Amino acid sequence: MPDGGGGRPSGPAPGHRADPADPAGDGAAWWRTAVVHQLYPRSFADSDGDGIGDLPGITARLPHLADLGVDGLWLSPFYVSPMADAGYDVADYRAVDPVFGTLADADALIAEAGRLGLRVLVDLVPNHTSDQHAWFRAALAAAPGGPERARYLFRDGRGPGGDSPPNGWRSVFGGPAWTRITEPDGRPGQWYLHLFDAGQPDLDWTNPEVREEFHDILRFWLDRGVAGFRVDVAHGLAKAEGLPAWDHDYAGMSRDDVIGAPMWDQDAVHDVYRGWREVLDTHPGSIMIGEAWVRPAERLARYVAPGGMHQVFHFDLLLAPWRVADYRAAISSSLEAAGAVGAVTTWTLSNHDVVRHTTRLTLPPGRNNPEGIGPRDPQPDEELGLRRGRAATAVVLALPGSTYLYQGEELGLPEHTALPDEVRQDPSFRRREGAVSGRDGCRVPLPWEADAPAFGFSPTGRSWLPQPESFARYAADRQRGVPGSTLELYRSMLRLRRELGLGAGHLEWDDGFGPDALAFRTTGASGRVLVVANLGPDPVALPAGAVVLATGDLDGGRVPTDTTVWVVEG
Ligand code: GLC
Repeated sequence: MPDGGGGRPSGPAPGHRADPADPAGDGAAWWRTAVVHQLYPRSFADSDGDGIGDLPGITARLPHLADLGVDGLWLSPFYVSPMADAGYDVADYRAVDPVFGTLADADALIAEAGRLGLRVLVDLVPNHTSDQHAWFRAALAAAPGGPERARYLFRDGRGPGGDSPPNGWRSVFGGPAWTRITEPDGRPGQWYLHLFDAGQPDLDWTNPEVREEFHDILRFWLDRGVAGFRVDVAHGLAKAEGLPAWDHDYAGMSRDDVIGAPMWDQDAVHDVYRGWREVLDTHPGSIMIGEAWVRPAERLARYVAPGGMHQVFHFDLLLAPWRVADYRAAISSSLEAAGAVGAVTTWTLSNHDVVRHTTRLTLPPGRNNPEGIGPRDPQPDEELGLRRGRAATAVVLALPGSTYLYQGEELGLPEHTALPDEVRQDPSFRRREGAVSGRDGCRVPLPWEADAPAFGFSPTGRSWLPQPESFARYAADRQRGVPGSTLELYRSMLRLRRELGLGAGHLEWDDGFGPDALAFRTTGASGRVLVVANLGPDPVALPAGAVVLATGDLDGGRVPTDTTVWVVEG
């Protein structure tokens, strides 16, 4: 990168109004109210026709994001990887996998994004490397007990001949969290820990060499102009000393079930992030956001305490069923916990790991977060899902704080719920021997043009996962400029959110709309906005004031079921 500053916008993005959370206007706190669009590179846009999305494909489609009105984008991993877990198994943190392009393509993407006023966050995967990473290969080639193995968690097995794993820890994807290696002399050897796939060996974060290496990786990408990092499995890096016993399988577990587990949310992890913060503070305006599946909310808030991360996803809403009490509890507890440490909330309804919210919100409470949906499961009601999805997004985009969108939700895309087994690639499907469908259904390549091959995803019509026929009606070109389309609804929401200063607002609940309505006022820079979402079967009275947004047709002055309105009060 020629000037070390790259394409990072240094002040408020062009065309953006002054951010009420950033009165100094130097852009340093841009993230507090930002809307960030997550891109899953393999499924966004394919420029070379191999059926897998790539960086030049993204760069060519960046105007779509600028036009949508988001502040930035987060790119899921595009680094060199054998793709045991779709790139979350990194073999080289400083190079781009050929399937996605080159480092020059990454530079061009960052520069073009900067020109369009979009900040770029990249994914950092620090809990584990790939088993093809130079460090892990060196560890396999070296003798037990040496410095090469000390970067990972190698242990001798238990029992006669060390034939049993060192403890009973399980992989999040199913099966044991330990794999035995063959020593260089050909004998059965030590075991290594992998909280995820066997191709994702966990690093030992007590090792100073590991810490140094990651400081250097942060600097490498900051110098190329990125605005920060989404930190993968941020709650997993520190393990309890001695790796104490914990013999539970993750299938069907909730976040509460793993409270106190020796591999998650250990206090020592915060020390790692304090070190990273010092690195980030040398690049003003750069941030890190943690993916930490941590409960209770007070423990999660520790990740965003002063000197730590800037943001952490508040996943309560992503897990909540479509019921007033659940939405309200999720919103209140997240606001409270973040507020207590002076942090902001960061919301999200969909990402590359969960069933898309347009589909998820049709599922019954208690079964509303399946690990994928397959052709043998009951098929969801797509129309109902779209209605609820739009209504839910209009709730979230009116909340104080920042929001992360997932590619395709601005088109109203549903989950692909009928992918045949033979095309599935998620390791959780394989490791659980098909007991769960896995995450491929939310990762299907995007439809851009209804009448083009692969709906415009790829010039050759190839697509690494098959797209359902129904994607034609969600294609971006079918929605652009069409009043009432989901794409135009998202554009309006983002514009109004900015104009009304909603991200920097203060929330107060209003109980006056009955038990089936989720209603709150948010006081932003431009006055008071009343948000009413009707989650019940009967219409709700429309409040007085100017309706500036409705996610569905209003029924004779009433808010129909599964509809949200934004009303500016006089
Ligand atoms: C995170 C990622 C997920 C990945 C896992 C292991 O949860 O979001 O996609 O499989 O970490 O890296």
